[in-house]
Amino acid sequence: MHGNKNHDTITIMEKIKIAAIVGSLRKDSLNRQLALIASSILSELSKESQEEIEFKILDYTDVPILNQDNEYPAPPSVKRVRDIIKSANGVWFFSPEYNHFFSGALKNLIDWLSRPISESEGHVLGGKAAAISGISPGVSGTLIAQDHLITLLSFLNMKIMNNPRLVVPNGFQQVDEGGKLKLTTSAPFLKNQAEAFIQFVKNS
Ligand code: FNR
Repeated sequence: MHGNKNHDTITIMEKIKIAAIVGSLRKDSLNRQLALIASSILSELSKESQEEIEFKILDYTDVPILNQDNEYPAPPSVKRVRDIIKSANGVWFFSPEYNHFFSGALKNLIDWLSRPISESEGHVLGGKAAAISGISPGVSGTLIAQDHLITLLSFLNMKIMNNPRLVVPNGFQQVDEGGKLKLTTSAPFLKNQAEAFIQFVKNS
């Protein structure tokens, strides 16, 4: 929290924390690159609006496959990701589509996050603002996977921003020769979603 002195009024601004969850673990993931572009957009937005916006991609590569035998006490990696999500004001999902579904890695992470922390504390996703985006080389652009993800997140009582969502089909048409995502035609839609999500989080 910090103060911003403007003539004789002082406004107190809270930092807006967005945790990004990328459903693909591969290093050159289009969805990870989409998240990185979203990060740049939010950083610009933060400068323009003078609001402090933090956007961090969650690293969950060390979270094990859920086995209820190992649930309590939770493994340190699970405790770490839970703490990050708990302190975030919003969660932005960047989901690939695997067989018209979201990935197993993402399902496993959400399963861990869906479990109560202890007898006295519930799970960390309930009531949390959520945005959903995705990019794929095919024509579906992750739309079908996103619909499944929404079913799951609704069940977990997340507050989902249903409009706008971002679906980017034919993703390779927006990469350069080196395979880097340039996001040409879809860039304005991502910017629009970023701005809408910050408002959504603030109103949540
Ligand atoms: C895919 N892919 C894919 N794409 C799609 O549009 N619809 C689909 O149903 C599937 N199914 C599918 C299944 C499996 C097991 C794999 C590994 C891949 C292709 C997928 O969209 C592509 O590999 C993306 O590049 C994956 O996202 P990242 O890793 O680039 O973020």
